[in-house]
Amino acid sequence: TTEQNVLFTIFGGTGDLAKRKLYPSLYRLYKKGFLKEHFAVIGTARREWTNDYYREIVKETLTDLIISEEDATEFANHFYYQSHNVNDAEHYVNLKVLAEKLDDHYQINGNRLFYLAMSPNFFGTITQQLDQQGLVTDNGFNRLIIEKPFGHDYESAAILNEQLREVFDESQIFRIDHYLGKEMVQNISTVRFANTMIESMWNNRYIDNIQITLSESLGVEERGGYYDKSGALRDMVQNHILQIVSLLAMEPPARLKDKDIRNEKIKALRAVRLYKPEEVKDYFVRAQYGIGSTESGLLNNYRNEMNVAEDSQTETFVAGKVLIDTFRWKGVPFYIRTGKRMGEKGTQINVVFKNVPLNLFSEDVEEELPPNVLSIFIQPTEGFSLQLNTKKAGIGLETDTFNLKHKHSAETVANSPEAYEKLIFDCLNGDATNFTHWDEVASSWKFVDVIRQAWDQDQSELPSYQSGSMGPAESDDLLAKDGFNWHWNP
Ligand code: BG6
Repeated sequence: TTEQNVLFTIFGGTGDLAKRKLYPSLYRLYKKGFLKEHFAVIGTARREWTNDYYREIVKETLTDLIISEEDATEFANHFYYQSHNVNDAEHYVNLKVLAEKLDDHYQINGNRLFYLAMSPNFFGTITQQLDQQGLVTDNGFNRLIIEKPFGHDYESAAILNEQLREVFDESQIFRIDHYLGKEMVQNISTVRFANTMIESMWNNRYIDNIQITLSESLGVEERGGYYDKSGALRDMVQNHILQIVSLLAMEPPARLKDKDIRNEKIKALRAVRLYKPEEVKDYFVRAQYGIGSTESGLLNNYRNEMNVAEDSQTETFVAGKVLIDTFRWKGVPFYIRTGKRMGEKGTQINVVFKNVPLNLFSEDVEEELPPNVLSIFIQPTEGFSLQLNTKKAGIGLETDTFNLKHKHSAETVANSPEAYEKLIFDCLNGDATNFTHWDEVASSWKFVDVIRQAWDQDQSELPSYQSGSMGPAESDDLLAKDGFNWHWNP
């Protein structure tokens, strides 16, 4: 383990993300020795907090992880709070003074990591000010981590990107997609490229279709204000789902280096077929959650949620068919779906293979056997399964489906570093593999924008689905018309 010298500056230091994810992740890196003596953290936000108060808050976020009070205090002593108005140039001057003081004190040698964990409206201003007020150093690395959303369509994303690029170049910008930090998302490449059996079958000769489900059981909770303007398409499809698609669809990279991998992902995303506005209804469906009931009581419909418009047309569910126009994938639909308030929280990929040419186990040789399915379970269970047809025990030659399963043990899951810990670690090492390149963001928005615009022009009432279900009937119909069905159907 080598210790990293670094000064973190966290914009949004009093926020939810900082408290839930960033501080615990930094502490884990500290426990492992990646952060030791030569690091400091400046937390900034509007409020007036003292260093002492800030350190108490930081410690509170670590309750589940702390081994000794002493140790936590020692860690928290590296934290400094600076009240900050992002629009006020003067404030950056104060920030600079503090940064230089800490750089000196902890002998950091100019390495800076700026973490923007606040509203994207301010990303442009902040980066400009960092440059103009001299917070960017010339004796160490300067890296920027930014949280989603990266724009709300292609145009706004391009403007934002321009602003960032005036100060930082692509190699310094780390756009977070926390799904890329998930253990089993990272496992996709390993499964694909370390197994002859799978690698050789990973194409349209053997694969019938691929299904990706990101279902959530929670509703919008307290995030109605943000979500009602975003909707499931922008919130989940533009980023997480298309990232997963690109990892499944990309060609093998020459080497497992960030540049090589990202090049292949970019190529895959560029090959995603852009629909014409009038085609959208054939390929995508949307819906909004209605009421529902569980053992613990009745569930609200979406329009009754806090900070959601009474006549909201925002989709909380999307299902769609993504086509990739490459030699490898011609004719293989990638079905995707995601939604809030679905039956179960679960993220999984199901790769459905083509059938054997004839069914020798039935009177009718045309009768379809259940398909072979490779499932990758991303969360909450982490693991794989492979559905095979085998002989039913006993007399005769009847078939039975059998699942080869592997689940990561509870211990592995518990010890697996949280997505944010891994991503911050990668950024400290300058490894951008698990961050999204601008070209990926751009292609994703171009795909999503057509769908969004078609929906915005469509005045018909959007379908609803019962809270606690797996979505509307339209989602099943989307596959049924191609002769398929959702493999995961709890
Ligand atoms: C976020 C979305 O990016 O991902 C949220 O904004 C969503 O709406 C969340 O709930 C899901 O992340 P996870 O890691 O809980 O699957």
